[in-house]
Amino acid sequence: MPLKLPKIIGHRGTCAYAPENTLESIHTAADMGIEWVELDVKLTKDEVAVIFHDDDLDRTTNGHGPIAQMTYEDLRQLECGSWFAESFAGLKIPTLEEAVEVIIERGMGFNMEIKPCPGREKDTAEVALDLLSQIWDDHDRLLISSFQHVSLETAMDMAGDWSRGLILPKEWPENWAELAQYLEVSTININASEITREQVEAIMDMEKQILAYTVNDPDQARILQGLGVDGFFSDAPDVLQESIFMVH
Ligand code: G3P
Ligand code: MG
Repeated sequence: MPLKLPKIIGHRGTCAYAPENTLESIHTAADMGIEWVELDVKLTKDEVAVIFHDDDLDRTTNGHGPIAQMTYEDLRQLECGSWFAESFAGLKIPTLEEAVEVIIERGMGFNMEIKPCPGREKDTAEVALDLLSQIWDDHDRLLISSFQHVSLETAMDMAGDWSRGLILPKEWPENWAELAQYLEVSTININASEITREQVEAIMDMEKQILAYTVNDPDQARILQGLGVDGFFSDAPDVLQESIFMVH
């Protein structure tokens, strides 16, 4: 049975309206009627799985330097809201566990992107999967994705029956199709900005579902949908939802 995915997945929660990868960003998506969210998972120095995108703290927190060198206790001293807007000042970087609790409470689906700091591809997947396996039991509403094939391979070994997605960067690696076959992924998640009809068709030939990131412009979504893209990651999922899929 193919994984039943929604047409629109909130990117980093709903990062156009709330600071990315925060609990508020998940709640905002839920309040808009968005069915699934995508969040990025990495590890602190002491191996706590947290929701965070960059390798460094500087862009989205009042801290500095690599997150991989911070303990969880250190991270909790930081705030990750005021870079976005003063009204969000004081927000904390959530743990994976806290985020999943909110996703479950709000009845949503989850795309967990394993986004390891360099060298932690296996560890990050192990810690995240270990935790998730204790608190998540809905196979139909979970997609584990990564740019890193080692992380996906670890997910395959640890939780083979959970759906996986291979994320491709703008420049596709030559062996993308072999990787997708070997990792037995359900989806291939492509960068929407430079995609060709031939590339979409190549994925369709493999009978994989196609998700495109990051799409905020309804016209772009319509074109991609016409090519055969199944769903979109969007920072402003309500905009696509209303204009493309006529949901009000
Ligand atoms: O998973 C899709 C997308 O989130 C990948 O790019 O950098 O936003 O994590 P990024
Ligand atoms: Mg991501």
